[in-house]
Amino acid sequence: MATNRTFTMLKPDAVEKGHIGAILEKISASGFKIVAMKLTQLTKADAEEFYAIHSERPFYGDLVEYMTRGPIVAAILEKDNAVEDFRTLIGATNPEDAAEGTIRKLFATSISENAVHGSDSDDNAAIEGAFHFAGRDTF
Ligand code: PPS
Repeated sequence: MATNRTFTMLKPDAVEKGHIGAILEKISASGFKIVAMKLTQLTKADAEEFYAIHSERPFYGDLVEYMTRGPIVAAILEKDNAVEDFRTLIGATNPEDAAEGTIRKLFATSISENAVHGSDSDDNAAIEGAFHFAGRDTF
């Protein structure tokens, strides 16, 4: 059975462009409750660890550089079927392929600067949430 939490990051491009408020509004209007949230900046070591599963992929270095170049918003979100419903809300990895009305269609500019992250499984949602938040910072 699906758990009811997922993890997200509003990535540096979204923060740089001033889209935090609009994206959070869309997340909230789609029925997700924020149970943890912070503005933070990943170190190189943080990003390398967070994206370690992609370390053999050709874009890994660029992804680490992008994800560390400025602040991000990290959050844990709660809703029934959270992981799957949030992946639907954000749209395809490449905004060119993302459905109309999705967060990436509205706010992302390219596959390498795609505005938002959403966990791809319940297990990863738990791991990624714990990477960023202590238990006492989650409500
Ligand atoms: S996913 O969401 O995991 O199914 O997508 P995937 O295609 O496997 O991509 C994994 C993460 O790498 C990012 N990505 C890229 N970054 C830079 N350049 C290119 N070409 C590229 N392709 C994919 C993608 O946004 C995923 O990051 P997260 O933070 O998980 O969304």
